[in-house]
Amino acid sequence: MSKPLEGIKIIDFTHVQAGPACTQLLAWFGADVIKVERPGSGDVTRTQLRDIPDVDALYFTMLNSNKKSLTLDTKKPEGKEVLEKLIKESDVMVENFGPGALDRMGFPWQYIKELNPKMILASVKGFSDGHHYDDLKVYENVAQCAGGAASTTGFWDGPPTISAAALGDSNTGMHLAIGILTALIGRDKTGKGQKVAVSMQDSVLNLCRVKLRDQQRLDRLGYLEEYPQYPHGEFSDVVPRGGNAGGGGQPGWVLKCKGWETDPNSYIYFTIQGHAWAPICRAIGKPEWIEDANYNTATARQPHIFDIFKTIEEWLADKTKFEAVDILRKFDIPCAPVLTMKELANDPSLRESGTITEVAHKERGSYLTVGSPIKFSDMKPEITASPLLGEHTDEVLKSLGYSSAQIANLHQQQAV
Ligand code: COA
Repeated sequence: MSKPLEGIKIIDFTHVQAGPACTQLLAWFGADVIKVERPGSGDVTRTQLRDIPDVDALYFTMLNSNKKSLTLDTKKPEGKEVLEKLIKESDVMVENFGPGALDRMGFPWQYIKELNPKMILASVKGFSDGHHYDDLKVYENVAQCAGGAASTTGFWDGPPTISAAALGDSNTGMHLAIGILTALIGRDKTGKGQKVAVSMQDSVLNLCRVKLRDQQRLDRLGYLEEYPQYPHGEFSDVVPRGGNAGGGGQPGWVLKCKGWETDPNSYIYFTIQGHAWAPICRAIGKPEWIEDANYNTATARQPHIFDIFKTIEEWLADKTKFEAVDILRKFDIPCAPVLTMKELANDPSLRESGTITEVAHKERGSYLTVGSPIKFSDMKPEITASPLLGEHTDEVLKSLGYSSAQIANLHQQQAV
């Protein structure tokens, strides 16, 4: 099956998560992604949090599938020469080094553009160029704090809280992928490449858009009616942490189900959608609430919303999270069980759709990974194993015109 990005050659100068998540996605869709790694060590995630001695860690294998690996010390003259050749014949170069690293290596944007005016240089940094923190190195949690997610996540009586979802890393990588594809379409029209830059702070903030909405509502009104602090608690002048409250116009909460005393994930998320009030009342056995003036509008419910959730929990007490959802789905109530990683790993629907997929790896055997969350009618991305360190060095050098003797010489010069 031909893939839409076939023929697009990408120099993948990325490491850890933000950059690799971006290039992995492009590789699934057919791009020829060549990961450039330091000889001897490679991407640091190859050795981080290993579960099998001397074998690439899952941290690496789950973010670098479908790629090739070329080892190259790009600070040595012969490594620079190879990189220059690669730049001349590639479409995109993606990097997420610390600020200024590419310039110090001798590859500022001006030079890359000179080597290949059609090149798209895609960069991830913690903060955008010109920002007063643009010299900082940044990891996931730092970005979640800088982008507004941490101050608005968690409970009001606890500290700012980090989300397990990689809002700083993978999310930034997804933004970068959109930028690269846009620049590729732009290049088709102009014939020229360009630099695409995405900061982790901006990408987190983009996902916290509704919290900036709330800040402006708070500035104007002094309260936020959908937060648990309303109407009995107090608001300061900044958006508070709202626990598990629904973020939009529909109140919701995480509710206990049968077995919660021993199973920390025996919960469902329950949403009280305004127009679904009557079905909710019928589902939980409270038909008398349908017309009751204390309950029949969102405004009437809000002052005692936690009493309503408590009543729903009483109804849930003899139902598992799966049984509860099976009943509620018949009433068209937006809800879901709180699923664990173990449950997701074994979910037959996710296996069937390819969202959870098993990949064969030369050294570690098979492992699970998250496949493409984007589904196409005419293409099913096939997920292949991540490359071993330097697995494709000779193949890539040959394709650049190096002879066997030159390749052997390069290996010697590049040896660590
Ligand atoms: N050959 C020779 N040198 C190489 C190389 C190669 N193949 N690959 C990398 N290097 C060098 C870089 O040029 C850099 O050199 P210099 O800083 O001495 O000039 C050096 O390796 C270290 O790179 P750096 O990216 O700064 O690594 P770090 O481990 O100190 O920092 C991060 C890691 C993630 C904090 C940093 O890269 C960063 O802030 N990146 C941008 C934001 C980001 O993507 N963060 C999320 C990661 S998930």
